[in-house]
Amino acid sequence: MRAIESVHNMQSQMRDWRREGVTVGFVPTMGALHAGHLALVERAKRETERVVVSIFVNPTQFNDPKDLEHYPRPLEKDLTLLSSMNVDGAFLPQAREMYADNYNYAVTERELSRVLCGPTRPGHFAGMLTVVLKLLNVVSADKAFFGQKDYQQLKLIQGMARAFFLPTEIVGCATVRETDGLAMSSRNLMLTAEQRQLAPEIYKTLKSARSKEDAVETLTRLGFRVDYVEEHWGRRFAAAFLGNVRLIDNVEL
Ligand code: PAJ
Repeated sequence: MRAIESVHNMQSQMRDWRREGVTVGFVPTMGALHAGHLALVERAKRETERVVVSIFVNPTQFNDPKDLEHYPRPLEKDLTLLSSMNVDGAFLPQAREMYADNYNYAVTERELSRVLCGPTRPGHFAGMLTVVLKLLNVVSADKAFFGQKDYQQLKLIQGMARAFFLPTEIVGCATVRETDGLAMSSRNLMLTAEQRQLAPEIYKTLKSARSKEDAVETLTRLGFRVDYVEEHWGRRFAAAFLGNVRLIDNVEL
């Protein structure tokens, strides 16, 4: 596996693969890799001949500076994992290069980003879409793989790809869960043992509640601070805090 730290080197690697005529798959991440990320890598390996995984903790999508500061960054462990999976390239860009424009240029979406996580995370989706556009431009892959765990993010990226005629196909992949149902997330590492016990109730409640009001009531009673439970596109979505850790999940209705 090649670790690539500059935009220039990533672009020249892409040109080499284009000359070879191989297809390229791309999995963007913020690191602290878990089985949810690895399922995307496996899917990319099945569908394309070369696979690039990026690890970049994108500062512009964190609306809470404490969340950015505490975000886990086990880089060595992540690289060992990717290398053992025979990933071809790990793209590890620097914030100063990704944002050489001082974030003066950004992608705005005016509809989908205003529901669900939009209202409580101001600036989050603009930061996320902007970095994903930059990453997709640098790693000009045939396919890029994203998880349905972040369903609103996936829909926004698909919409952006259509709106800007991006040549990369955006592929959505099913949510990977722990055996107790908790959706895998880098943030699960920040839960206390007690919170970790309670966390799977989000998924259980989303599946079993008779209505979204019912789900809010159940989660609140169990000790969650509920941000929202909403239904869109035939799915039920929830975001809720355990302490300072914000968890999200969604299920098909
Ligand atoms: P991150 O949270 O690291 O997630 C990277 C990718 O893994 C996303 O597509 C996410 O939906 C997917 N993923 C995370 N947990 C998953 C799970 N349990 N099952 C299936 N897929 C899962 O999402 C981001 O990073 C960032 O916003 C990013 C797109 C990299 C832009 O900065």
